[in-house]
Amino acid sequence: MTLTRHWIVGPGALGRLIALRLADRASVTLVARRPLPAEQTLITPADGVLTRRVEVARIEALPAPPDVVHLTTKAHGAEAAHAALASHLPAGVPLVLWQNGFDAQPRLAERHAGPVLCATTTEGAHVQDDTRVTHAGHGHTFLGSLTGDQHALATELATVLSSAGLPAEAVFDIRVRLWRKLAVNAAINPLVARAGIRNGELREAPYRARVETLLGELAPILAAEGIAPPDGAGLDGWRRLVWQVIEATAANRASMLQDVQAGRPTEHEAILAPLLVAAERHGLAAPGLAEHLAALRARAAAVAPPGDGC
Ligand code: PAF
Repeated sequence: MTLTRHWIVGPGALGRLIALRLADRASVTLVARRPLPAEQTLITPADGVLTRRVEVARIEALPAPPDVVHLTTKAHGAEAAHAALASHLPAGVPLVLWQNGFDAQPRLAERHAGPVLCATTTEGAHVQDDTRVTHAGHGHTFLGSLTGDQHALATELATVLSSAGLPAEAVFDIRVRLWRKLAVNAAINPLVARAGIRNGELREAPYRARVETLLGELAPILAAEGIAPPDGAGLDGWRRLVWQVIEATAANRASMLQDVQAGRPTEHEAILAPLLVAAERHGLAAPGLAEHLAALRARAAAVAPPGDGC
């Protein structure tokens, strides 16, 4: 398979980062619900400026089918975006799910009429406005299917992305990697989003103890799900990973805090709900995680109804 025509559905920061990086080597269509300028600019981590024209298509008026569809909506918009798109796609077109958490991925992997890859990335990007996105920091992307097959497709896509300046790697254990990112997000995002603090402030009282409480709940749930931390084992391994991320991102406003501050829906369902479902399945208590989910659900009910992120 040759992956030359890419649809990117969900032109937020990540979607436009991928589009602009791919634009010189592939045919790229940004699929959006609302009109978006075709001329798009990426501010690179070295403060360079990369301006390209990309095709922008409305979901109601799509061009000829692509070789691959990247779904880059927020987690809560993924299923609605896929439903709007599915009838326009011939069977067999690969789908790449770039969502955080572990919510829609298994359902979409079942539902999509073609190969499905999941991606997890540490690329950092944020939207400036409708024409500009900042690529804040280089990262790494892992690609694979939840069942461990489709390795040739994941390898080909990893080559395409890497040659476009987004280093990527095909892996057999994407499920584990998605859960690890979810665990880090669960230990950091709800706390900073609700307290309105930068990640580094979690090192101080009273937040340090709150991170530790969440780690104490997360570690047994992850162990019961068969998810080990990357380095070391059990609670110590998770503690090392989470505090490393907090240290490395001390100056950052985490994604969930940015969503709260911008009045957008947060990804609490995709990040916290899978942990609580797993906790219940294994008979484990997780009152701290449950309290965050309840509070973020209450906030979601009080703000505007969620859009689909397209
Ligand atoms: O969601 C985010 O912002 C990031 O995944 C993380 C790791 C919490 C750092 O800010």
